[in-house]
Amino acid sequence: MRGLCRAPVFWIVLLITSLVRLSPVVHSHEWTERSRGAFIKNVSRQRTIHRQHFRRTTLVSPVHHTIQGMQCIEVKVDLPLVGTVTILEATADTQEELVNLALDEASSLDCKLASGDPYGAVLWPAASAIASHLLIHKDSLLRNKIILEIGTGTGLVALAASLGGAQRVLATDYESIPLELLKYAATLNSVPSTILDTQLLDLCDSQAPLPLADVVVAADIMYEPKTGRAMALRTLEALKSGAKVIIGDSPGRAGRPAFLQALEELGVVDANFQDTRGTTVTGERHNLICGPTSVTVSQQPQELTVAIMELNSENLLA
Ligand SMILES: C[S@@+](CC[C@H](N)C(=O)[O-])C[C@H]1O[C@@H](n2cnc3c(N)ncnc32)[C@H](O)[C@@H]1O
Repeated sequence: MRGLCRAPVFWIVLLITSLVRLSPVVHSHEWTERSRGAFIKNVSRQRTIHRQHFRRTTLVSPVHHTIQGMQCIEVKVDLPLVGTVTILEATADTQEELVNLALDEASSLDCKLASGDPYGAVLWPAASAIASHLLIHKDSLLRNKIILEIGTGTGLVALAASLGGAQRVLATDYESIPLELLKYAATLNSVPSTILDTQLLDLCDSQAPLPLADVVVAADIMYEPKTGRAMALRTLEALKSGAKVIIGDSPGRAGRPAFLQALEELGVVDANFQDTRGTTVTGERHNLICGPTSVTVSQQPQELTVAIMELNSENLLA
């Protein structure tokens, strides 16, 4: 080993490896987040390289928590009017364990993924955009209102709505892991369970009616055509019940065209996304949760256009 360390080639290889590790990842196009099926299809190529694509951006040691055996870190998000909101994200190691769970491989976690979807254990850009939108328009969208969130993930939108004065917030997801992270984060943000509740709900389950609400929100959940179509049906259901619907979508999501087409077929008129200024998310991401070419994640926060659509019963064809 001593001889090896003296060899110039050893030091050159070490230097090159270190430089590659430290170099920022260039995002050239969106890597669309995929479901478990696609996970398994792509895995043999990606598994071997995923470790080196973790983004190590945290300068200060983050605060850790263990939630149902999962290691999580606190992530602080600054929002208008309510200030800093703390959410919990899975650490890099936990993301890897979640990916193992999604792939039905050995995992050290006790918990289960019902649908094999690990994406809700980290934050996505549309959540901040929708949270800010709700807070800026809190008098019309939050005050005395019951809010229903679909696909809440780490729950930033639900927390913002609770802190911004909503009467009650029901945060739903089809995976229980994000709901556990959110319940824990609610206590960190002093949000009582009398305001913020959670419930399992599969957007695509046509047998499960939407819980009644004044405003239905969803951020970054249309990453498949199937969820885009299901979101259109849920939009119609919500509008018919008299609710407003607010949807946020980051660039490049595969479900957006299917969503827009289904809305048109269902007779929802003037359903247009408006571009708003959002920001990328930062922090470590497993390669199979958010790929190295994704535009939604970066080492430092960067401006990102997030599309927001707001609909009400006037968007229904008479
Ligand atoms: C990309 S994450 C976005 C999470 C969060 N809204 C955000 O913007 O940070 C997508 C979330 O939608 C949930 N989801 C995906 N498909 C769903 C479905 N069919 N029904 C309910 N939730 C779903 C996932 O579990 C995950 O929490």
